[in-house]
Amino acid sequence: MHRAADTFRLAARVAALSLHRPSRPDRRWDAFWRGVSRGSLTEPIIWDAAPGAGNEEIRHHLQAMAGAMDTGLPVIDLGCGNGAITRRLTEIFPSVLGVDVSPEAVAAAQCAQPHVPGLSFRSLDATEPAAAAGLARELGDANVFVRGVFHVLSRRRQARLAGSIEALLGTRGRIYLVETNVPGGALSYLRGLGATGEKIPGPLRQAISALPKPGHFGAGQRSRVFPADRWTLIAQGSTVLKTVPMEAGGPPGSIPAYWAVLAPRPQASENQTAGKVSTCW
Ligand SMILES: C[S@@+](CC[C@H](N)C(=O)[O-])C[C@H]1O[C@@H](n2cnc3c(N)ncnc32)[C@H](O)[C@@H]1O
Repeated sequence: MHRAADTFRLAARVAALSLHRPSRPDRRWDAFWRGVSRGSLTEPIIWDAAPGAGNEEIRHHLQAMAGAMDTGLPVIDLGCGNGAITRRLTEIFPSVLGVDVSPEAVAAAQCAQPHVPGLSFRSLDATEPAAAAGLARELGDANVFVRGVFHVLSRRRQARLAGSIEALLGTRGRIYLVETNVPGGALSYLRGLGATGEKIPGPLRQAISALPKPGHFGAGQRSRVFPADRWTLIAQGSTVLKTVPMEAGGPPGSIPAYWAVLAPRPQASENQTAGKVSTCW
């Protein structure tokens, strides 16, 4: 009974916090990053891992990428945020481009990571096919790194992001993705980070009031977004995403997560397909 009352209070608090979210996802992200830059959002950014624990998480990603990708190719960090992880990618890739839909995020990343050889940032919507095609023409085949972006997109935008990634990889690139994949519903996710009906930790409160609601992204979602007729699954597994401490001075939080490495399958071109059909006749 006590648990049910607490769940009710927690759900009511979350509903109240979500009321004033900006409606369009892109504006929401830019408003979030503007708030961070200008100091109106004062809580730590929830997915910015504390240095020690964060390093362990990032080391896992770097090792998996070094083992599965051609590290001579450039890498694009899609949805790079403040660029803290983008910078770590320069440890294994000679050329690293961080891309984010939010111009405010890109400005913050440029300020925080000036003059790192091989590292640059730019703002574009990675779900826009024309933007991805332009970047693919400019860079040639590239690898792609995505951390924590698919799980905040609608199904339609997830499919568009996968289309962009296919264009960016060309024939030699691969994608490494890592996404939160919490079992259970939204309230289990919040409880896992210490939220109760009495109190929601500050970084979580800030995320609920300013950002799109996160969903699951595990093997099931991955196989829908990257179907087997277009993609080869090279590796996958479970991991955790480290968060900032939920209370000042406390330990970092952990969110159950899913990672995978994929490569696009070579597709018969329209002309080849047409040719094949005509020989059947
Ligand atoms: C949860 S944050 C993760 C940031 C970063 N990858 C990290 O792990 O520190 C998601 C990021 O994706 C960006 N984003 C959301 N939709 C996007 C889109 N359509 N194109 C490019 N970036 C996008 C947001 O602005 C935000 O910075």
